This record gives sequence, structure tokens and C-alpha cells, in this order.
Amino acid sequence: QQRVAGLVARHTRDVADFPTPGVVFKDITPLFANAEAFGSVLDLLAERHEGGVDVVAGVEARGFVIGAPLAQRMGVGFVPIRKKGKLPGEVVAQSYDLEYGSATIEMHTDAVKPGARMLVIDDVLATGGTAVASCELVEKVGGSVVGFDVLVELAFLDGRARLERWPVHTGLVVG
Ligand code: PRP
Ligand code: MG
Repeated sequence: QQRVAGLVARHTRDVADFPTPGVVFKDITPLFANAEAFGSVLDLLAERHEGGVDVVAGVEARGFVIGAPLAQRMGVGFVPIRKKGKLPGEVVAQSYDLEYGSATIEMHTDAVKPGARMLVIDDVLATGGTAVASCELVEKVGGSVVGFDVLVELAFLDGRARLERWPVHTGLVVG
């Protein structure tokens, strides 16, 4: 969606050599800091999925910042997808590979009703590892992924190719 891309582009700054030399980090904290721009992005995301979502799931950590207010705007519940060991109840886990080593994310087993239409939200799509694991996790707890939405897509990493099974929406496409 062009309007989301425009808003994200105007309120994102590039930080050179973060977190490691040679990497240009897309910092979206200026968007969060601007109530009007952030509100407009949330409105556009809510509009895109109007009537089609039962629950919004946000991916720790920045997916929380977008997902929780979006769920409120849409009038649906929010559930967190957390890094291993943070959720207190019974959990379902999904591991995925990182550049070095691996990571595990978890959701509460009883987070959603069977067949719930789930919108998964994160900030950035890079290699797609986090995205695939999140969508698989949502399916493991019995939800159906109706969308995976992020504000920024790093196209040169081709994460989208790994997400063929789910409808993916991105805002600003970089590279
Ligand atoms: C970043 C980003 C996405 C993920 C994308 O999160 O917020 O969640 O990486 O990368 P991928 O497509 O290659 O999996 P990170 O794991 O750094 O943690 P954070 O959100 O808690 O900062
Ligand atoms: Mg993240």
C-alpha cells in the first residue's frame, strides 16, 4: 500500500553501521514518536483488514508496539508472540535459524480459539525467519493466518520467497 510506504518513508531514519559495520539500520522510532503519522499508519492497516480478523498477534518486541494499538483500533484482541521463557502459562514453541545459531518463540497454548483468523504483525521483514516461525506458531495454536503485515521489507534478503503460504503485506520496500 503506497500510503503506508510514504508515511513510513517520511518517518524512518537510516542509521549507518548498526548493529554491525556495513549494515544500514532502518529506524522506525520516529514514526512511533509522531502521533499523527503513526495513527494514520494504524488506520490504513486496520482498513486493509476490516472485518477479516479475529485476533492480532504481535511479534516481540517491535511487533508489540504496532500490534497492540492496531488490535484496539480493529476492536479485536491482541496476543503476544514472545521470545522463549517469557510467557507464564503453558506454551507452544517454534524454533528457527538465525545467521548464527537459532532462536525460539512461544505463544500461550490457549491464546486463540480454533480457526481464529489471525493477523500477524511485526516491524521488519528481513530474511523471513521470524515471519515463517511466527506464522507456523500461530497455526500450531490453532489459528489461521489471514495476513502477515510489516512496515518495512528488506527486499534484497528475499524473505518474501519463504512466505508463499501466507498473504504478506509490506509498507516501505527497501533494496
Ligand atoms: C528483528 C525485526 C524482526 C526480525 C526480522 O527482530 O524486528 O522481528 O528481526 O528478521 P528476519 O526476517 O531475518 O527474521 P529481532 O530479532 O532483532 O528482535 P527485536 O524485535 O526484539 O528487536
Ligand atoms: Mg523483531
